[in-house]
Amino acid sequence: MRIMFLGDVVGVSGCSAIMKNLKKEIETYKIDFVIINGENADKSGVGLTEEICKDFFNCGVNIITTGNHVWDQKEIMKFIDKENRLLRPKNLFEPAPGKGFGIYELKNDLKIGVLNLMGNVFMKKSEDVFETAEKFLNTNKLKEDYDFLVVDFHGEITSEKNAIGHFFDGKATLVVGTHTHIPTNDARVLDGGTAYQTDAGMCGDYNSVIGMNKENSINRFFKKNSTKHYPEVGEGTLCGVIVDCDIETGLAKNIKSYILGANLKNI
Ligand code: FE2
Repeated sequence: MRIMFLGDVVGVSGCSAIMKNLKKEIETYKIDFVIINGENADKSGVGLTEEICKDFFNCGVNIITTGNHVWDQKEIMKFIDKENRLLRPKNLFEPAPGKGFGIYELKNDLKIGVLNLMGNVFMKKSEDVFETAEKFLNTNKLKEDYDFLVVDFHGEITSEKNAIGHFFDGKATLVVGTHTHIPTNDARVLDGGTAYQTDAGMCGDYNSVIGMNKENSINRFFKKNSTKHYPEVGEGTLCGVIVDCDIETGLAKNIKSYILGANLKNI
């Protein structure tokens, strides 16, 4: 059983890289289940639409996770209630449309749980993520409620992500960070058998400032008035992880970071 997780898809570059490559990559790597974070997939670089979600599903994506930009394209608030395969962070303040956790059918009667969480440090205000995680684990168990569990932790800082990884160790198949749009070089299986990488990186144009136009981004740091912020539109790189899972335990056998094309190269 092999899971692919791809980090934040940004704008047209990210979407095009998914459309162009994903089906072929699923075949090449014999991937059974694909999760992507789609919260920056709109052409504006923030939010996502129903049409984008459908395009992703059509090219092999099984589940779409999100984060702080989930509601930036308002139409998604209606669509998320109809689409079981689209998640928002579980620890958003309630009431909120949609849900942050789902259980999905795999082949051979296996089930996979996908949990979307958002960090508290330097992020929009949300419920305490460690308390949310603890409550979740009190009522949801690996190999009882699902055969595999993937956690997308959408957060800004490495220490918070690292801590969540260890908190879920032995209770999840994979904990992977999103949101910073930069892949970290720390993919590993933790002591208890959970695969972990602090950030999956983005799917988008790396000749940018985390996917967005370079000049405007620099101007914003100088606090100059800048024209509307928009994503760079060069060739996109795909970034994420591939995890081999043990069907007996639900834990990870191994994890490899995955990078395809354009400005970043796997060595
Ligand atoms: Fe984000």
